[in-house]
Amino acid sequence: MALLDKHKTIEKNATLLLVGTLLVVSIGGLVQITPLFYLENTIEKVEGMRPYSPLELAGRNVYIREGCYTCHSQMIRPFRDEVERYGHYSLAAESMYDHPFQWGSKRTGPDLARVGNRYSNEWHVQHLVEPRSVVPESVMPSYAFLKETPLAVKNVSYDLIANRRVGVPYSDEMIASAEADMKAQADPNADTSGVLARYPKAKLGDFDGDPAALTEMDALVAYLQMLGTLVDFSTYDPATGYR
Ligand code: HEC
Repeated sequence: MALLDKHKTIEKNATLLLVGTLLVVSIGGLVQITPLFYLENTIEKVEGMRPYSPLELAGRNVYIREGCYTCHSQMIRPFRDEVERYGHYSLAAESMYDHPFQWGSKRTGPDLARVGNRYSNEWHVQHLVEPRSVVPESVMPSYAFLKETPLAVKNVSYDLIANRRVGVPYSDEMIASAEADMKAQADPNADTSGVLARYPKAKLGDFDGDPAALTEMDALVAYLQMLGTLVDFSTYDPATGYR
């Protein structure tokens, strides 16, 4: 009976009830939030993930600038229909270097999280120049001007620096060679050993069909061709993230 009386006192006294409620909510909140301050990273490491190469990063900037995300998501959800259509479901680690991430939920067009290696460079260029020439029923706009727009090379190192500020592990060496790496990745005649050492699995060569010019089309196609290709799912073990 005594306990019931005490409960009545709390219920009838608005201030006491408020203080009591705040106390309970604070304890619950702290239990959830405190561990996050002691974890170095909440994303499981997965073998194969690396920061974007300077050319891919530039392509990603074009992707964001042109609003490709308004029609395309980049997250394959762990449902059977999605996995059968697009491939292995997306891992958190696969977007750990994305600032901002491109997950999205609007799918006027297909998800692009694993579009890398699915088509040839020529197909992408043709599709971006005139989508309806390869997919007659497509409602995607034309981005032909990207092929005529020279890629801005000069400030790419600042892009890497900005990403490093928010946690992407770009080394001093990567920043120093950003401009050269960007040109070399899209140049079929360049020495690309440095690019490959710094950015394993980077796709090399001419992307836009014009080896003489470095255009925004080169960057965008280089970016599309690497999407979802860094993690090798034939050896990926969900239990450890490593082979
Ligand atoms: C207005 C909506 C819209 C916008 C904006 C848009 N797309 Fe698309 N996209 C589509 C649709 C619809 C399709 C499916 C038909 C097709 O293949 O053209 C598609 C298909 C694609 C495909 C082929 C995917 C596959 O698996 O077959 C790629 C790659 C692509 N888009 C890239 C881009 C890029 C890069 C941009 C930005 C420069 C972009 N899209 C902007 C609607 C859009």
